[in-house]
Amino acid sequence: MSTITVGVLGAGRIGRLHTDNLLRMPDVRVKTVADPYVDFADWPPDGIATSAEPEFVLSDDEIDAVLICSPTPTHAPLTEAAAAAGKHVFCEKPIDLDPGRIRRTLDAVDRAGVKLQVGFNRRFDPTFARVRQAVVAGDVGEVHIVKITSRDPQAPPVSYVRSSGGIFLDMTIHDFDMVRFLTGLEVVEVFAMGAVLIDPAIGDAGDVDTAITTVTMAGGALAVIENSRQAVYGYDQRVEVFGSSGSAEAGNETPNRVAVSSAAGVRTDNPLYFFLERYQASFVAELEAFFTCIRDDREPLVSGRDGLMSVLVGKAAARSMAESRPVRVEQP
Ligand SMILES: NC(=O)c1ccc[n+]([C@@H]2O[C@H](COP(=O)([O-])OP(=O)(O)OC[C@H]3O[C@@H](n4cnc5c(N)ncnc54)[C@H](O)[C@@H]3O)[C@@H](O)[C@H]2O)c1
Repeated sequence: MSTITVGVLGAGRIGRLHTDNLLRMPDVRVKTVADPYVDFADWPPDGIATSAEPEFVLSDDEIDAVLICSPTPTHAPLTEAAAAAGKHVFCEKPIDLDPGRIRRTLDAVDRAGVKLQVGFNRRFDPTFARVRQAVVAGDVGEVHIVKITSRDPQAPPVSYVRSSGGIFLDMTIHDFDMVRFLTGLEVVEVFAMGAVLIDPAIGDAGDVDTAITTVTMAGGALAVIENSRQAVYGYDQRVEVFGSSGSAEAGNETPNRVAVSSAAGVRTDNPLYFFLERYQASFVAELEAFFTCIRDDREPLVSGRDGLMSVLVGKAAARSMAESRPVRVEQP
């Protein structure tokens, strides 16, 4: 297969981002974008067809692969329908909020024999991939502690919070996947605490805006993940893996490398503002990896099992917070 023909389901924030990235990729053609609720007045660019019906994309024999960029509750049914239609699937995270539903979807994908990659883009971030490389190379030795700081610059609207599945399945889910990716170890237990310190409306919606999760990995390594929905200085994304031989640490990325020194102190610019800026390279790299696995008939680097595992950890964290106790993570 030289050119891969793609359909995109969902023309919101992430659907537009992926489509715009696809347009710059060689040997990839975006044929159609489908979204029932968008009028397509100002987007996409000429040359891409639009439809109000996802089914229009799924029934198009020319389309080899679909990107599912619609809201979370649609991911499992659309993945199953796409797989049944013989399309390879790139599905945004999470596949679903219900592990049972995810298992049924993964079975459907297996039966259809198509590829499924889940949108854990941060694995493809060059900085975090370098940390993983240091761990694989043995520079860190035996992993003892992982520290992840993940703070958004601005809390989302409460309407988003209500349908997000809660902070652990919406936000920390990336960090759970990152702990598994960086260490290559499975998560076996979590102990989570949360607080509402930023926006009382988030509490009224049944969620928290501040959280700390401690994680126990298979073999005994520990991780601590801290999340905030609002860091006033920008998107704060830092990781460290510490072990018996050393540590690999990644700090924030700024728009430039300039430090301005004066009698008052030394200043750099704030971190890149949010995920669209900070993780731009990873969004391109994850799709390139998806197309490579289709072309070379290889397993995707982020599997359906990874998608399921992150939700199982997120569920355990939500339960841990609700019950104020450590909770064992159900294994897939
Ligand atoms: N990997 C990441 O970093 C990342 C970042 C943002 C969002 N996401 C995920 O992507 C998904 C979409 O998030 P978003 O922020 O782009 O949301 P959004 O609300 O901006 O966009 C979703 C779009 O899907 C459309 N839609 C609704 N039902 C549909 C259907 N049945 N078929 C096709 N389109 C449909 C909506 O009209 C909307 O335009 C969510 O599951 C979210 O968790 C992932």
